[in-house]
Parts: sequence; C-alpha cells; structure tokens
Amino acid sequence: METKLSNRNVWKSLGADRAPHRCHIKTGFFLLLTLVFLLTAIAYVSGFPLETAVLPDTLYKKVLNQIRSYYVVTEYPPASENQTIFLKPKSVQQSPTQTTDISVHHHVAHPSNYHFTLDEPDKCSQWDPFLVLMVPVAPHQREARNAIRSTWGNESSVQGKAVLTLFLVGLTGGAEAQQQLEEESRQHRDLLQSNFVDSYFNLTIKTMVIMDWLATRCPQATFSMKVDSDMYINVENLMTLLLSPNTPRQNYITGYLMRNRSVIRNKKSKWYVSQELYPEPKYPTYLLGMGYVFSNDLSEKIVEASKEVKSFNIEDAYVGACLKQLGVAPSSPPDSSQFRAYLGQYNRENFLRVITTILRSPQQLIDIWKDVKQIKLE
Ligand SMILES: *[C@@H]1O[C@H](CO)[C@@H](O)[C@H](O)[C@H]1NC(C)=O
Ligand SMILES: *[C@@H]1O[C@H](CO)[C@@H](O)[C@H](O)[C@H]1NC(C)=O
Ligand SMILES: *[C@@H]1O[C@H](CO)[C@@H](O)[C@H](O)[C@H]1NC(C)=O
Ligand SMILES: *[C@@H]1O[C@H](CO)[C@@H](O)[C@H](O)[C@H]1NC(C)=O
Repeated sequence: METKLSNRNVWKSLGADRAPHRCHIKTGFFLLLTLVFLLTAIAYVSGFPLETAVLPDTLYKKVLNQIRSYYVVTEYPPASENQTIFLKPKSVQQSPTQTTDISVHHHVAHPSNYHFTLDEPDKCSQWDPFLVLMVPVAPHQREARNAIRSTWGNESSVQGKAVLTLFLVGLTGGAEAQQQLEEESRQHRDLLQSNFVDSYFNLTIKTMVIMDWLATRCPQATFSMKVDSDMYINVENLMTLLLSPNTPRQNYITGYLMRNRSVIRNKKSKWYVSQELYPEPKYPTYLLGMGYVFSNDLSEKIVEASKEVKSFNIEDAYVGACLKQLGVAPSSPPDSSQFRAYLGQYNRENFLRVITTILRSPQQLIDIWKDVKQIKLE
C-alpha cells in the first residue's frame, strides 16, 4: 500500500498527473529518483545501456531494486538510433539478476512441448473475431487484467468488427493461486494457461504458446496483436489502421520497429543472450514486444518457422528471427508516431491519436480511459 502510494506520487512529480499539489514524496525517494536520472544521463552520454555504465555493481543493483517498480529510463538495446526508450518494470515478474544461471539448454520454446491447462477452445467460433488481442500476463497480476477488462479489453465491437481480448498465463507457484485463477477463468472466460513455469526468462515460450493458440483455436481471425498488460491501446485507431485498404491481410506485421540492434553480451543484463544461443552480433529487424499487430496467417507460419530457429530468451527479437526465416519483413506503420513507448506528460490529444503506449499502473489505465472516453462522448 505504502509503495503504491509512493509510486503514484513519483509519477505525479514527473508532471503526469493533473493534481501536482497532492504530491508528498519522501526525501529518500526523491534522492533515488535524482540518482536514476543521473545514471540515465551517464548511460545516454556514453551510449551504453544503464548496466554497463561505470558504476559499482552493488550500487547499481541496489538502485535497481529500489526503482524496480518504476520505469527505468535507458537505451534498449544499445541503439544505432538516437532514441531513448522508456522501459517497463519487467523485473516485477522476475529479478534480472536471477536469470543468468539457468541452463540455456533447457529453454525450449516450440509450443508442441506444452499444453493448455486452461483453455477457451470454442471462443473464436462463437465470437468470430476480426481482431484478437492476446495479453501475456503473470498469474498474480489480476489487477492488470481487471483494468484491461474494464477498458480496452471491453471493446468487443469496433467499427462493426468483433474484437476479442484474452490473457495468457503460465503455471503459478501454488494450489491456492491456481484455484483463484480457475475461479477467475469461470467468471470471465478469458484466461488461457499453459504448463510452463511463468517467469521473465520464459517469455519466448509464452509468446510462442500465444502463436500456437491463435493458429489452432482461432485461424478465422483476420488480425491479432500481442500486447503487454501495462499498455494503453486505442482500439479505434488500431481498427482504422487494420481496415485501411493499404493494410495487407497476409504476411503483415507492424509496430515499433527495432532496427540494427546489437545482441547484449553483458552477463549482468536482463537481456543477456549467450553467443551459444545466438551467435550473430545483431538481431534481425523486429518489433518491440510491448505491442505488435499482425495478419493472423502469420501465427501458424511463425510456429512452423520456430522449428528451424533455435530459441533464445528475448521474445520479440525471437519473433523477428522467425520472420527472417519466413522471409517476411516487418512493416513500418503508416504513422510511426502511433506506436509509442512513452508519451510523457498526460495529454488527451496524444492518447486520442496513438495506438499504443506504455503505462505505469492499472489505475492509470482506468483514469486515462475515463478521461479519453469522456471527450469522445462530448
Ligand atoms: C535523432 O536526432 C535528430 C537530430 O537531433 C532528430 O532530427 C531525429 O528526429 C532523431 N531521431 C529519432 C529517431 O529520435
Ligand atoms: C463493458 O461494457 C459494457 C457496455 O458496453 C458495460 O455494460 C460493462 O459493464 C463493461 N464491463 C466492464 C467489466 O467494465
Ligand atoms: C521457466 O523458467 C524457470 C525459471 O525462470 C525455469 O526454472 C524453467 O525451467 C523454465 N522453463 C519451463 C518450461 O518452465
Ligand atoms: C548499425 O549499427 C552499427 C553500430 O552498431 C553502425 O556502425 C552501423 O552504421 C549501423 N547500420 C545502419 C544501417 O544503421
């Protein structure tokens, strides 16, 4: 509770809330924030990600732990472009320092190795969706699921087209958590679960299981989107893009393009990938994992291609590698400013114009949604 409040206050202090006078930040927190910005400046100036900045390791880890629930401003991966991307606190799911020891030999992503323990096999034949929004989410993130259910996940018909939103989780830690999930599934009928251990390291598996579900349970959908649980989605604008006569319905994938990105070989980084897993120094062009939309013929093709592409733990880059194998080039969106990682200070106009942007909390999604919808009704 305490942490949550502090979170919001920090967000407010960044000018993202329209009531800055409610701001009460602990001094320690403010100092930390200053430190983070300093680190960011160092990282940006030196052209390296935060992890490689010249800092005592322990200090870095400590700071990272403190700011874990915030966005870390850093460059990911070391870019040839001069952009700074605001990253999501992925470490909420799994500490980055825990992942490097896991034997890479056991990282098997092909979905034929897994099966669904919660499924909605008839959902697509009942619903006949034009667009399916697939949200990978950790089992315990019920608040995020509920925020989505009451906002963009509840947009079931947009411009006359049916839209379906489903969540995909892995296995939970315990029987009680599993029971709660099953209850939630009975209540909402929008949960899919596969039998791999849910962890940050296993996100590639999660994505491939999503592709498998689309290919086997929902081949009739025209488009799909993989979208993270901390995103704002303007479904109206997304639909406009998809219904445009210029948008192909085959071999099409778009989002935030990542070009000429180096593979991270720093073992301390949460994006570390060994030479053994991925020998080349650069990734093929791929789409940033926060939200990419594709013609649904690709789901089956990607699953098929993944038999030939050795898996590694960076889910979005792995999809890029599968696309390369298929000879499918990711497309730039017609308006690349619509796929945003970060929108800065809240401003209705921006949220009315974009398709995606990362948010800081489920509550922020609810607040922004109300505000955005209100202006539409006026
Ligand atoms: C990179 O910097 C140049 C000059 O400052 C600017 O015009 C351009 O828009 C920037 N590119 C990106 C992708 O931010
Ligand atoms: C979804 O929208 C409908 C109206 O279209 C509304 O009645 C329902 O309460 C909404 N569901 C949630 C979970 O907000
Ligand atoms: C998933 O990740 C965990 C820890 O990150 C690991 O122990 C496990 O073997 C991984 N794979 C599967 C298939 O669950
Ligand atoms: C790709 O990045 C490398 C540095 O990592 C740079 O030297 C090269 O010019 C870049 N290529 C393109 C096409 O931007």
